[in-house]
Amino acid sequence: MLQTELRTHTCGELTLKDLGQQVVLCGWVQRSRDLGGMTFIDLRDRYGITQLAFNMETHKEQCIKARQVGREFVIRTIGKVTERSNKNTKLPTGEIEIVVDTLEILNTALTPPFTIEDHTDGGDELRMKYRYLDIRRNPVREALQLRHKLAMETRSYLDKQKFLEVETPVLIKSTPEGARDFVVPSRMNPGEFYALPQSPQTFKQLLMIGGFDRYFQIVKCFRDEDLRADRQPEFTQIDCEMSFVERKDILDMFEGLIRHLFKTVKGIDLPSLPHMTYAKAMKLYGCDKPDTRFEMTFVELNSTVKGKGFKVFDDAGLIIGICAKGCGEYTRKQLDELTEFVKRPQIGATGLVYARYQQDGTIKSSVDKFFNAEELKKWSEVLQAQPGDLMLILAGEPNKTRKAMGELRLEMGNRLGLRNAGTFSCLWVIDFPLLEWNEEAKRWFAMHHPFTSANPEDLHLLEDDPGAVRANAYDMVVNGVEIGGGSIRIHNKETQALMFQRLGFTEEEALEQFGFLLNAFEYGAPPHGGIAFGFDRICSLFGGVESIRDFIAFPKNNKGRDIMIDAPSKISEEQKKELHIILAPI
Ligand code: AMO
Repeated sequence: MLQTELRTHTCGELTLKDLGQQVVLCGWVQRSRDLGGMTFIDLRDRYGITQLAFNMETHKEQCIKARQVGREFVIRTIGKVTERSNKNTKLPTGEIEIVVDTLEILNTALTPPFTIEDHTDGGDELRMKYRYLDIRRNPVREALQLRHKLAMETRSYLDKQKFLEVETPVLIKSTPEGARDFVVPSRMNPGEFYALPQSPQTFKQLLMIGGFDRYFQIVKCFRDEDLRADRQPEFTQIDCEMSFVERKDILDMFEGLIRHLFKTVKGIDLPSLPHMTYAKAMKLYGCDKPDTRFEMTFVELNSTVKGKGFKVFDDAGLIIGICAKGCGEYTRKQLDELTEFVKRPQIGATGLVYARYQQDGTIKSSVDKFFNAEELKKWSEVLQAQPGDLMLILAGEPNKTRKAMGELRLEMGNRLGLRNAGTFSCLWVIDFPLLEWNEEAKRWFAMHHPFTSANPEDLHLLEDDPGAVRANAYDMVVNGVEIGGGSIRIHNKETQALMFQRLGFTEEEALEQFGFLLNAFEYGAPPHGGIAFGFDRICSLFGGVESIRDFIAFPKNNKGRDIMIDAPSKISEEQKKELHIILAPI
């Protein structure tokens, strides 16, 4: 019987309770050690590692064979579970070994281009090129297992709440979510293109009109945008929509989802999520996705520091400060580093003013020429600085200054070890502006997307002060990462048409692009709203890693390439002809 079974057990399950059993194991050779009389092989599969022992005296032929297998060979062995004399208590299988009497080489392997170990010697690009080897490594496999667990728990929660998972098409028409579309030429419709969905937004709204009431989908979305650690051109959303709901219902339902995930996957009981308005987030943190694991919030200093002859402050629209606790003894070098940091083009500040509150009670600032001891004391009161603290101040155009200070705050959070990956601080950011002005295009853009409804209290402002209208939109933010966002939708044709008009669409353009939705609104559209979570971001957050790449089995590099399969790639002239593509010479 044993001789015919390909395997009876995995490499992660045999322990002392199995002593004496005859077993068949299959797997990859992690490493082998030849000690003369004995040869040992660590056999690995997805479940763990089991030691195989080959005895030169009793099984000479098998032992000689064992000496020939190299790293990553695929082998099958039959043997007996035996107690180990030299136990490894770190491994679940570390107290036993298999004394092998049959060894079969199922396949040989070339020496891998990097070590298949937790800490590998392979660089990013090499690991991506040989991703099938990379995913044999524990950290990557564990990341993908975590992803699986999160997907299963998401489905379980939403299923219990009566959500139906419905698949929506991948070959669609452009949906404006703010990024560029990936397009696919249509062979059967010369000169016409499908767009890959940036999200299933319009389809989920149509499902609500279709009476589906509670929909979700764990779904691939595609966006042709500049890539960063938390962005991939194809990524996955947990996309959800509900009918007959108000904002509160959505926030409660999806706070429930995130609490369920934290509880079941990490064993953490999340406190209930605070709500912070967009205006407050911008004022106190300088961004709409504040990292609330630590305080160090902004203090406006205009009335405290203006009018003392220091031009930088006197000319500035906004002067803000933060107090870095315990950094009062920063050296000149450290302060220069911070100044360089804020002056980097990505941050864009022109300079940094600092004031060190020294242990002896005196305050030394970089602008002592303009401010006397009494005035500096006033700064410390406003910033609530104590002896031993460091006050950091930026001044300039309000939006730029807030943004730069937001970055400096995060940098100080890093330096002070306040951004621990094992601590989680979740919140809802609400009351986003409905529209934002784009100076280049000289028109208003929907801040979330054009299907978002306005806060009814602000509707009267739409004509004269569109920028002041708040949207019925919300984001879930965890540790400074936007993990999800959504809104209560417009569900009425006239309002939607008015919104398109506000966004600069002509009536024809609106009909051409979104006629299907506008028409559908005329056939009994229920009030509805929803949210989509960035699933890869949730995975990386739970995994305590910034980059989402390791939580995707086959990710793209930061040029949007899959370097393993070498995509994108050229297509044949034949294919181009079929697709009616005529390319201009490059
Ligand atoms: P939004 O555009 O905010 O909303 O996207 C929802 C969430 O998806 C994640 N995300 C990404 N993750 C990885 N790589 C990317 N390139 C990327 N882009 C976005 C973010 C984000 O919060 N249809 C609306 C949702 C709705 O209104 O219901 C939408 O797509 O975590």
